[in-house]
Amino acid sequence: MLPLFFLATIVVASQGLDLGPTHQIHLLRPQAGSRGDPVPDVSCLSWRLVVETRNIIGWATVPQECEGYVGHYMLGHQYRKDSKVVVKEALVYARSLKVTGDGKDVWIFDIDETTLSNLPYYAENGFGAEPYNATSFKQWVLKGQAPALPESLKLYKKLLSLGVKVVFLTGRTEDQRSVTAANLKRVGCHTWEKLILKGSSYRGQTAVVYKSSERKKIEKNGYRIIGNIGDQWSDLMGTNTGNRTFKLPDPMYYIN
Ligand SMILES: *[C@@H]1O[C@H](CO)[C@@H](O)[C@H](O)[C@H]1NC(C)=O
Ligand SMILES: *[C@@H]1O[C@H](CO)[C@@H](O)[C@H](O)[C@H]1NC(C)=O
Repeated sequence: MLPLFFLATIVVASQGLDLGPTHQIHLLRPQAGSRGDPVPDVSCLSWRLVVETRNIIGWATVPQECEGYVGHYMLGHQYRKDSKVVVKEALVYARSLKVTGDGKDVWIFDIDETTLSNLPYYAENGFGAEPYNATSFKQWVLKGQAPALPESLKLYKKLLSLGVKVVFLTGRTEDQRSVTAANLKRVGCHTWEKLILKGSSYRGQTAVVYKSSERKKIEKNGYRIIGNIGDQWSDLMGTNTGNRTFKLPDPMYYIN
């Protein structure tokens, strides 16, 4: 019975190919729910795509009707799967380079939603659908309990083993240095070339301006920025962005 069934399937499939323009087109069924269920509100998937491709910028909150969708995306498998593919490509690229071993090849890592995950906080605060609350977010950061984004931790470790130095460049402010360093160590990031936090001289400046300026300093000091990974476009735009940039997903918030 079984071989016959397979044969029939193959015949049908190849006929389907030969028929060219008349072959059937099946609607894509987006499977981004926590259990792989089709998501009823497909427009939230479109919203996420448009956000990730930076066609919508400067948005303050996730649309109310997409809170459930973003929550399922973040806590379900899709966020992790997407992150995994990004990191896989970053590693393919890193391995293709001739790392000189002179200690001057660096990779920039953003911290929030890149190295560390604030998902435990956002899961209790509407996944970005509620207005940003600086007070409660700061309270969360000061706990120093953010878990690692596992895919980024893997990239971090592999890069170190390839002889690439890591520079953390974060929008977290200078007064959060010790808690941030302790949090990084807690999740397994024990070493870095630099940990750059936003100093008071950059107060009121966009992340693009601040991060570009700090990357320029890094290059002035003789380092080569071979790669750069972050969840925000503002981590990856501006000047001195590095030879290649890698954008991790983040449908929860937007930083200029
Ligand atoms: C922001 O968070 C703080 C600390 O949890 C809370 O007291 C305050 O009410 C929140 N503000 C708003 C507007 O929700
Ligand atoms: C990286 O970028 C710099 C500056 O644009 C360039 O000089 C260098 O050749 C690039 N390196 C690689 C490996 O592409």
